[in-house]
Amino acid sequence: MRILILGGDGYLGWPTAMYLSRRGHEVAVVDNYFRRRACIELNREPLIALPNLNRRATLWERVSGHRLTVHIGDVCDYPFLLQVFREFEPDAVVHYAEQPAAPYSMMGHRQAVFTLTNNLVSTTNLIFAVKECNPACHIVKLGTMGVYGTPNIDIEEGYLEVEHKGRRHRFLYPKTPGSLYHLTKAQDGDLLYFYCRMWPIRVTDLNQGPVYGLTTGESAEDERLLPMFNYDDVFGTVLNRFLVQAVAGVPLTVYGQGGQTRGYLNIQDTLACVELALLHPPAPGEYQVFNQFVETFSVNDLARKVQDAGRALDLRVEVQHLPNPRREAEEHYYNPAQTGLLSLGLKPHYLDEATLCRMVQLVQKYRDQIQPELIFPQVRW
Ligand SMILES: NC(=O)c1ccc[n+]([C@@H]2O[C@H](COP(=O)([O-])OP(=O)(O)OC[C@H]3O[C@@H](n4cnc5c(N)ncnc54)[C@H](O)[C@@H]3O)[C@@H](O)[C@H]2O)c1
Repeated sequence: MRILILGGDGYLGWPTAMYLSRRGHEVAVVDNYFRRRACIELNREPLIALPNLNRRATLWERVSGHRLTVHIGDVCDYPFLLQVFREFEPDAVVHYAEQPAAPYSMMGHRQAVFTLTNNLVSTTNLIFAVKECNPACHIVKLGTMGVYGTPNIDIEEGYLEVEHKGRRHRFLYPKTPGSLYHLTKAQDGDLLYFYCRMWPIRVTDLNQGPVYGLTTGESAEDERLLPMFNYDDVFGTVLNRFLVQAVAGVPLTVYGQGGQTRGYLNIQDTLACVELALLHPPAPGEYQVFNQFVETFSVNDLARKVQDAGRALDLRVEVQHLPNPRREAEEHYYNPAQTGLLSLGLKPHYLDEATLCRMVQLVQKYRDQIQPELIFPQVRW
């Protein structure tokens, strides 16, 4: 397949590009370095300094023999996106090019408007480029489990059958997101569902849980190929933050009571899920949804696991409950379905102690780069 990856410089986009090119697909990546600029602007730079996207592509070609085409530009710039579509003629597009951090979206008016504009205009531009250039091109958009919130009933995979006054109808599962970022992911899903009903485009929405991990098979050969890895309060996902805190010798920052439960997955499973989605496109006019995670944990569960791994490595890991900077339920019912990707053949990586220890050991190599002052939450809502 010819696969275009939007957001190909990011935490997930870069490993996906290498993974798919190694499997024989022709891959092009697009990024406007928004994330790198935001990290510099907010003084929250990733743990590991990264070569720019062109240099990473050159390095990857040297290591693997696979060529990636790099386009630096903004997906919100429609003429630019159209030009990339016309040059590359993708069979499928993986859309990661959004502002992905809940705290960033809740910082203030400027960040709110940026998140709304960037995430919705990038998705709209993608839909129109597909319609204009090749409606058969499969859109795989990364969504989030956070769109569902924490309802007091089971969470289904995308849709909910409702019986009302003796009649039945299948709706998109109701969405109750807990940050503006998550709201934009609900809205971009609505946009895609709307256009699937208007036009014969093909869309898969992957409602993904928080991802953890650094290493994928492709980055094992050269650490300069590792993904962008943030551990700060704005861009770091919870387990990645805890791993760095364990190494830095600062207490793990559990927000509130720590009963907040979510579905998690290893970065290697993200790559496998995206590939499975690409290999199983829906019919024209269909909006296919998968819940993309492999196991659920509360924040307290994660903290305990990191403490256990720390003990195995002779690290003293403490836990500190901080006043919750977010408005969210700290104890709640959580039972989401996730059978779609498993039935397509996903072989999950589970979070065991050996995996945690390997991640901690990798972070230990970059211990000198850790800035502990970036760890405490500064954004509140
Ligand atoms: N990382 C997770 O745990 C996680 C969990 C659930 C869902 N997701 C979703 O996966 C996607 C990727 O997440 P990530 O963690 O890799 O984020 P990321 O910020 O590391 O990657 C996104 C990339 O897209 C680029 N980008 C953003 N807007 C752009 C634009 N308008 N034009 C061109 N490039 C643009 C950024 O510069 C960045 O490199 C996001 O849509 C996010 O909502 C991520």
